Amino acid sequence: MNTNSSHSRGPRLLLGVTGGVAAFKAVLLLRALQEEGVEVRVAMTDSATKFVGEATFQALTGQPVYRDIWDLDRSEGGELHVDLSAWADAIVVYPATLDFLVRASSGRANDLLALSVSCFDGPVLLCPAMHHRMAAQAAYEDALRRLRESGVSVLPPVSGRLASGEIGEGRLPEPADALLAIKDLLRPPDLVGRTVLVTAGPTREHLDPVRFLSNPSTGKMGYAVARAAARRGARVLVVSGPTALSPPAGVECCAVTTAAEMHTEVEARFDQADVVVMAAAVADFRPVATADHKLKKGSGNELSSVRMEPTTDILASLGQRKGHRVLVGFAMETEKLLDGAQSKLERKNLDLIVANNLTTEGAGFGVNTNVVTLLARHGEPVELPRLSKDRVAHEIIDRIVPLLAERD
Ligand code: CTP
Repeated sequence: MNTNSSHSRGPRLLLGVTGGVAAFKAVLLLRALQEEGVEVRVAMTDSATKFVGEATFQALTGQPVYRDIWDLDRSEGGELHVDLSAWADAIVVYPATLDFLVRASSGRANDLLALSVSCFDGPVLLCPAMHHRMAAQAAYEDALRRLRESGVSVLPPVSGRLASGEIGEGRLPEPADALLAIKDLLRPPDLVGRTVLVTAGPTREHLDPVRFLSNPSTGKMGYAVARAAARRGARVLVVSGPTALSPPAGVECCAVTTAAEMHTEVEARFDQADVVVMAAAVADFRPVATADHKLKKGSGNELSSVRMEPTTDILASLGQRKGHRVLVGFAMETEKLLDGAQSKLERKNLDLIVANNLTTEGAGFGVNTNVVTLLARHGEPVELPRLSKDRVAHEIIDRIVPLLAERD
């Protein structure tokens, strides 16, 4: 496994296990990590020990489990959480319960695992798992938002059969998926010194102050690219259409509404960028006129027909003067995916295009996963399986890094 740890040793990971039915999967994850050469220590909450025995983790790691704050005989400096956070290169909590997320997000460090997370300044990945009605609580969304704002990575739960037998979104991703996310967490920072400009979300084109034309983009894919680029050391500039998401930690975010505003703000940042990733779903048309006041029924202004005009194709205009920059576009298609994407790649003078078919399950607007095919100027298209948007973001960046190196 490629990591930023020193060459003389493998990466060190503190694996936190909290009390949910899915805790048994942590045993498999531990094994997979060890097979990749990762040195793992395990910290459990008391309730996690009701689901999986400490003895299992102790046997597999050859180390007693870390659980008790007051187990001071094990501490070198007198404080176990300080020792653990100094030892680890990364912390992963798999599974993370609602209780743990809420505590970690509000600084309630009242067990050894939460203390270690709060004391740690390296990369942290939390993997929530719970009943889907718990995941629908405001407390959950709130905790995730705060954690993400503080730079913590989250591997979102997936949809599937829950412990209760019901189907819902709350299931812990499989160990193999967590392993991929952990590899992303431990990556060397290969974008240090680069500036990455990312657009995200939809645009809105107003007919009047209360009505607009838009699309269902939520910004998740663009924000995932921004997060991944920041994690890999880039300076990240985001120009975002309206979204409910908080900007990823450490990125410079500019909020816009219309395609024209997005164009202006992207142009203003273009000179600084080494890479541009246009993940925004930009409106292709806008109303010729926008009314200053709400259009009233029966006033002769009924919207039986609206005259529209094209917006500027931002990406195509950047493509005409891209210089040394790496330009990446997205192609949203509902038919003839590769033909459509290939023609956009050429027409807009791009280096890479990320094609997705909006009709594929697990792809497109709003969901946490995507199913994409990557097309570069040379080579065969690369069809990726259904992956989390964070993973897709790293796959995109994996293709950008060598393109940047070629231009140095
Ligand atoms: N794009 C852009 N400016 C626009 C429209 C699209 O920069 N006015 C960018 C998008 O951000 C995306 C790429 O162009 O990266 C392709 O967008 P898409 O909507 O798939 O295609 P279009 O170029 O709009 O073509 P069509 O609607 O015919 O599929």
